[in-house]
Amino acid sequence: MSVHKQVRKVTTHRLSEMKLRGEKISMLTSYDFSMAQLVDQAGIDVILVGDSASNVMAGNQTTLPITLDHMIYHGRSVVKAVKRALVVVDLPFGTYQGNSKKALSSAIRIMKETATDAVKLEGGSEVLDSVNRILSAGIPVMGHLGLMPQSINKFGTYSVRAKEEEEAEKLISDAKVLEEAGCFAIVLEKIPASLGERVSKELNIPIIGIGAGGKVDGQVLVIHDMLGITQQFSPRFLRRYHNLADEIKGAVNHYITDVKSGDFPNDKEQY
Ligand code: KIV
Repeated sequence: MSVHKQVRKVTTHRLSEMKLRGEKISMLTSYDFSMAQLVDQAGIDVILVGDSASNVMAGNQTTLPITLDHMIYHGRSVVKAVKRALVVVDLPFGTYQGNSKKALSSAIRIMKETATDAVKLEGGSEVLDSVNRILSAGIPVMGHLGLMPQSINKFGTYSVRAKEEEEAEKLISDAKVLEEAGCFAIVLEKIPASLGERVSKELNIPIIGIGAGGKVDGQVLVIHDMLGITQQFSPRFLRRYHNLADEIKGAVNHYITDVKSGDFPNDKEQY
């Protein structure tokens, strides 16, 4: 008799069912096989292979330098590990803006070379041609509005977005444009909670927030931030669930002491 338990994979359809019945969606980033395996086994709904890999994996100041090849490398590693969660891979800066044919070929490369379930991109009406062309190939697209880190040079700061009426109305209109185009969900980053709630109420597709308050349909955080591996980054929206930085440094310190003192390896740890 087979002892293998069938895993029911999370799909875009299941996410919309979750919104309908008011069940919140959990989403975290992952960029490598080992972490993605743990996050998936813990039962997360969505794993985002975010272009935040540029910051947390490669040590860049912004998300702009990461390339399509890098994202494919991370995406492929994550997909290999995941059995249940829906996997979404970010389209990096410069691979979809202003050129819908390029957008489609970037998205197709990601789909073919990583076997991910979906892609994510930043922007509203200004990237609509790209969104439409990617969707026309049958590739599920997740939108991203509010603070859009790929546009940091346009705004100059990572402060809260859409506090003023005009910017809030533009965000709502962009969210509707993305929903009408056929996006299956939208990430809203760093906006007033009241605006997050309004978008979630006015749209049928799931709205996943990061600093968008508690009245949206789900939450996403960067895994290195919520585990306390990154240390300098402390926005108000971040809840740290662990202090892994201290735990890792403590373990490494212990190892160094054992190596220096000759305590490691002991008799049982050698051949
Ligand atoms: O790249 C990323 O990690 C993201 C999240 C912040 C939503 O886009």
